[in-house]
Amino acid sequence: MSFRVTCPQFDEPFTVEMGQTILEGALAHDLPYPHGCRSGNCGACKSELVSGEVEMSPYSDYALSEDEKAGGLILACRAVPWSDCEVKFLEADETVVHPLRHLQCRVVEVASVTHDIRRIRFEILSGGPYTFSAGQYGSLEFPGLPPRDYSMANRPGEPVLEFHIRLVPGGAVTPYVAGKLTVGDTVKIIGPYGTSYLREKHSGPIVALAGGSGLAPIKSIVETALLDLGSRQPLHLYFGVRDERDLYLEQHFTDLAAANPNLTFVPVLSEPTRTTTRRTGFLADAVRQDFGTLDGAKVYLAGPPVMVETALAALETMGVRKQDCHADAFYTEAEKTALNQKAAS
Ligand SMILES: Cc1cc2nc3c(=O)[nH]c(=O)nc-3n(C[C@H](O)[C@H](O)[C@H](O)COP(=O)(O)OP(=O)(O)OC[C@H]3O[C@@H](n4cnc5c(N)ncnc54)[C@H](O)[C@@H]3O)c2cc1C
Ligand code: FES
Repeated sequence: MSFRVTCPQFDEPFTVEMGQTILEGALAHDLPYPHGCRSGNCGACKSELVSGEVEMSPYSDYALSEDEKAGGLILACRAVPWSDCEVKFLEADETVVHPLRHLQCRVVEVASVTHDIRRIRFEILSGGPYTFSAGQYGSLEFPGLPPRDYSMANRPGEPVLEFHIRLVPGGAVTPYVAGKLTVGDTVKIIGPYGTSYLREKHSGPIVALAGGSGLAPIKSIVETALLDLGSRQPLHLYFGVRDERDLYLEQHFTDLAAANPNLTFVPVLSEPTRTTTRRTGFLADAVRQDFGTLDGAKVYLAGPPVMVETALAALETMGVRKQDCHADAFYTEAEKTALNQKAAS
């Protein structure tokens, strides 16, 4: 049994199988329904339920408040239809829509950029052209392994796709990437996904916060702003890692800042094991020390969930509006499940 879901933002209605969420139904039809975490935590799939009945599985208050729910809003990634429905997703500022592609790719480079991060580059064999906005991610499926989300580090339009993948001990995919993946291997990539993309029309200051391999989408955002859009507004890039050995692409961004005076690049070490002249502490604290207020700025964040959540809380106290924060927390599948269980309890 299935239900028919009408969404005025798409030309045709789509069907959602019994028990599927509206988002799952839309993605199964390759429709670019806006979304981020797919687990009720980010609010990127927030939609108006115009008509029909849905059942919502657990989600966080951050993603959908009680007031929003009372006002008829739902999260498409949590909403399972019980009847035919009409929904309308909330348009983000500068909504972008790229066709969902199923790419077959081949590895052309595997490089160790730190002790636990590999930079992987792929050429597209079929399924392109792959258009996306800087900051978006794809779902990568290596043969015989479960799919995982990774953010594109290259600029849109570049022929070779670049990803930065950090080894997570005990993980299903990253030990394979770190130890076995070699040039010539293939991967299936489905994408693009995500709503934390560069808002190209914004002309105010940009603050970009990257933690560890969160530098991947931030690199794409910063380079696109500077090199493709010729942005001249202040652009502050903070790169937070634990220790010296976790820093990478430092020379690259130092050179980019030298060539673009509107870019500042600030590496920050949270747990230095030796005396250092670098900034130390948490990213959120570094930003707070450097700026009294960030009212009017757009902030992009990517990296470990704890870093992203701490920084989001700090930014709120600095006058940054929720709609000006665009964050991708790198939740693992187990963390997504744990969050759902917490929200349910
Ligand atoms: C939008 C998005 C973008 C991302 N982009 C990037 C990126 O650019 N670069 C990057 O490095 N990462 C990124 N990630 C994270 C990435 O998707 C993977 O989650 C990560 O690489 C781990 O994958 P894995 O298969 O190796 O580990 P998993 O198999 O998911 O395991 C992760 C950890 O959880 C433990 N674990 C597994 N199952 C359980 C369980 N049931 N209970 C408790 N613990 C368990 C494992 O032992 C391991 O330590 C992104 C995530 C998201 C959501
Ligand atoms: S995609 Fe639905 S809340 Fe994140």
